[in-house]
Amino acid sequence: MTSATAPGKVILCGEHAVVYGQPALAVPVRQVEARAILTEMVEGEHGCIFIHAPDIQFHGWMHEIAPDNPIRKAIQLTLEMIPVQDFPELKLEIRSSIPIASGMGSSAAISIAIIRALSGHFDYLLPPEIQSQIAFEIEKLYHGTPSGIDNTTIAYERPVYFIRGDEPIPFEIGAPFQLIIADSGIASSTSEAVSKVRELWSKDKSRYENLFNQIGSISHSAQRAIKAGQIHLLGSLLNHNQELLKAIGVSTPQLERLIQSARENGALGAKLSGAGLGGNTISLVTDETSEAVLAALHEAGAAGTILTKVEV
Ligand code: MEV
Repeated sequence: MTSATAPGKVILCGEHAVVYGQPALAVPVRQVEARAILTEMVEGEHGCIFIHAPDIQFHGWMHEIAPDNPIRKAIQLTLEMIPVQDFPELKLEIRSSIPIASGMGSSAAISIAIIRALSGHFDYLLPPEIQSQIAFEIEKLYHGTPSGIDNTTIAYERPVYFIRGDEPIPFEIGAPFQLIIADSGIASSTSEAVSKVRELWSKDKSRYENLFNQIGSISHSAQRAIKAGQIHLLGSLLNHNQELLKAIGVSTPQLERLIQSARENGALGAKLSGAGLGGNTISLVTDETSEAVLAALHEAGAAGTILTKVEV
């Protein structure tokens, strides 16, 4: 039996602008994970894989599912990268505690857990850059025109400064900080949000490019603030980023309610995280404020919260 995991992730700043070439920052979230477990079946058909994924309501033989199914694609692309010709029948079990459609990278984490389990099972564990490349191919099936930030952060498992098409730059954390991730309870479809922004951008390119540039500068400053351990400055940069996301058109009244209540109860900064139109918010908190902010977020209707520490 071989088992492998991959964490979730959140974007600190730069979402949407990153699709248009601006930098974004994202960090892994280890409180949630996707897990893939491979078991060899002694009496089965060679070369066949049975998939059992109860958390995403999926069961079936790999060869019977659609060729562009993301799980099938993850298996196929991994097998193409390793020198394995034949193998005994395998059962692939997939579990995930990462909320779906909430901006935490559940699809990329599932792909990466599969890639790690399968390549590890045959003793050819693929390196993070290849894991990321394969997962990116699969992200395109789910999300249309993704930037690649999810697969990169999850495959490297490090805080990353990410510019589409460039080598990701892992960055240092000057002083650890805490975030509360709060789920608005409303599903967020990345492809829907990205196409909505694309449509708005195509109607008013100069306004949108100006907003994206401003967001890019925030990512740049936020990286410097994190490296220097300037947490208060990071908080105001997150707040400023939220104003720009609102101007882009991806915030909602429910997200605003969560953000407002976090700020009123001591968060140093708060914003939506991910594609928006639902999904998650993040709030920057300290030991002194975390309890009050958690309570306020639940009071304001959060469907779930995760307190995570960003370090390394
Ligand atoms: C989604 O998590 C983040 C977006 O910037 C899309 C992407 O980067 O692919 C909205």
